Amino acid sequence: MEIIDLRSDTFTQPSDEMRAAIAAAPLGDDVFDEDPTVNALQEKAARLLGKEKALLVSSGTMGNLVSILAHCERGSEVIVGDQSHTFYYEAGGVSVYGGIHSRQLANREDGTLALEELRAAIRPGDIHFPVTRLICLENTHNRCFGTPLNRDYLQAVADIVRRHRLKLHIDGARIFNAAVSLNRPVSDLADMADSVTFCLSKGLSAPVGSVICGDAEFIEKARRIRKSLGGGMRQAGIIAAGGLYALESGIEQIRKDHDHARRLAEELVKLPGIRLDLQKVSTNIVYFDVDKKLISPLQLVKRMARQGVRFFDTGGTRLRLVTHSGVTSADISKAIKAFQAVLI
Ligand SMILES: Cc1ncc(COP(=O)(O)O)c(C=O)c1O
Repeated sequence: MEIIDLRSDTFTQPSDEMRAAIAAAPLGDDVFDEDPTVNALQEKAARLLGKEKALLVSSGTMGNLVSILAHCERGSEVIVGDQSHTFYYEAGGVSVYGGIHSRQLANREDGTLALEELRAAIRPGDIHFPVTRLICLENTHNRCFGTPLNRDYLQAVADIVRRHRLKLHIDGARIFNAAVSLNRPVSDLADMADSVTFCLSKGLSAPVGSVICGDAEFIEKARRIRKSLGGGMRQAGIIAAGGLYALESGIEQIRKDHDHARRLAEELVKLPGIRLDLQKVSTNIVYFDVDKKLISPLQLVKRMARQGVRFFDTGGTRLRLVTHSGVTSADISKAIKAFQAVLI
């Protein structure tokens, strides 16, 4: 049976063209800065995000960890959203490896942190408190409906950051989805931040890797930390080539992914037992709830899997669908038919 995999955009496979670019990539030892493909990717990424420098890392998790370790010393504090990937899904790395205290503020449904709560969470100079160093935002926000954070909001947070001499890190695992959704160049969503990570292996469909962007001094520090974590890779152009191909061949696929998510949501909302707010669907992630009296989330997952459509339930009555380059327009039609067959 053909599988339509809506579990995550991390399940993407490289296209034939991307595989060819990977096979043909010139390589060198990146620990010595001598891999031309890594260097080309880093230069391209820095240019696109409007930053001085960039650094290839193995994953989004490593990108966030390295960035936070570069900004914060032991015993200092990072402010994060309570629904953020960094807080939720990164194995507490910042406290494990950095001795960094995390202060969680409630994410609102649109992925933002309330500005007044942010201001109030910044610690005054008192020896009883850890020293606040960093605010982290996530764009788009995975657990908050894949919502993009707009430039005005990012700028407002950056203003608070500057006033209090803090730093701003953006987990931009899906920042290209945000840029497409908001119809802005990606640099408009990055230039106010001190550091941004983005993932090559989600909507951009490369097999491995993420990139950290920031100023030259920050990237030099990040490079040392990456090495200490065992993340200095040798002929890493094999990894960089997929990402470089994705950035050079354009991000048209992301626009398609958003259209697919929209179509899926518009049909799902018509079905009995489904609760879904269409206004919250703005990128490639669709969250919806089921009426447990009709079907439990787990039953729905199992019955749809029997129809060849895979996705996750995310707790309570909620489920998530994610579109990506491995899901065609015909697949979306098939998935809609499968939902209708199970629910009507
Ligand atoms: C918002 C966000 N940040 C970071 C990550 C971590 O990326 P990785 O799985 O490459 O470590 C993910 C992964 O899904 C994510 O959704």
